[in-house]
Amino acid sequence: MEFDLAQTDALLSTTRAVRKRLDLEREVPRSVIDECLELAVQAPTAGNSQTWRWLVIDDADLRAKVAQSYRTALAESFFRDQAHAAAERGEAQTSRVYDSAAWLADNLHKVPVFVIPCVEGRPEPGAHAAFQASVYGSIYPAMWSFQLALRSRGLGSTLTTIHLFKEQEVAEILGVPDGILQVALLPVAYTKGTDFKRAVRPPASEITHWNGW
Ligand SMILES: Cc1cc2nc3c(=O)[nH]c(=O)nc-3n(C[C@H](O)[C@H](O)[C@H](O)COP(=O)(O)O)c2cc1C
Repeated sequence: MEFDLAQTDALLSTTRAVRKRLDLEREVPRSVIDECLELAVQAPTAGNSQTWRWLVIDDADLRAKVAQSYRTALAESFFRDQAHAAAERGEAQTSRVYDSAAWLADNLHKVPVFVIPCVEGRPEPGAHAAFQASVYGSIYPAMWSFQLALRSRGLGSTLTTIHLFKEQEVAEILGVPDGILQVALLPVAYTKGTDFKRAVRPPASEITHWNGW
């Protein structure tokens, strides 16, 4: 099998956190979410555990309730302090991210679909790093595949974790049973245009160590 590297490299390098360019007016068919989730579950899991569970919310009342929890979580978290600190340090790129993240919080209820990736089982407090890595590492690759699949179909999302400060509140809204760990919240919509760019990042060569640190 030969891949079109121009296409695959473009997909891998231009799948961004999309917030202000989410099209809040356009409906997202359930079939496209199902299709992207089918691709997502091709991702690896520790010991082939496949403990991932996917909670998809397109009901407007539920989205409004979850969005309210998200906003409360953000308001009570480190977010404003860190946004302020980034602005003080004159970090333009990071300040833009905080501004965009605040916009997403304010408008979250308008995003047509939320996907909450979950895992069956929760690491004990103080669990060994290897165990924690296998729990989170068994859902993050799938979340990223899901985002890539969205991008290749003209949709976009942002991986968000802020609502986890209110995980229990959201569990009650959505009837999530005990023992199911919510890992993130991905607000999904079609994007306004598809011309996303590579991010400015320091070269990987500057942070890569060969044959020892
Ligand atoms: C673990 C993780 C948690 C994140 N949490 C949030 C969040 O709560 N809210 C948000 O708006 N963005 C969140 N993001 C998105 C990042 O802000 C975004 O990926 C980063 O600014 C780089 O932008 P890019 O993905 O477009 O390159 C999160 C990303 C990761 C990987």
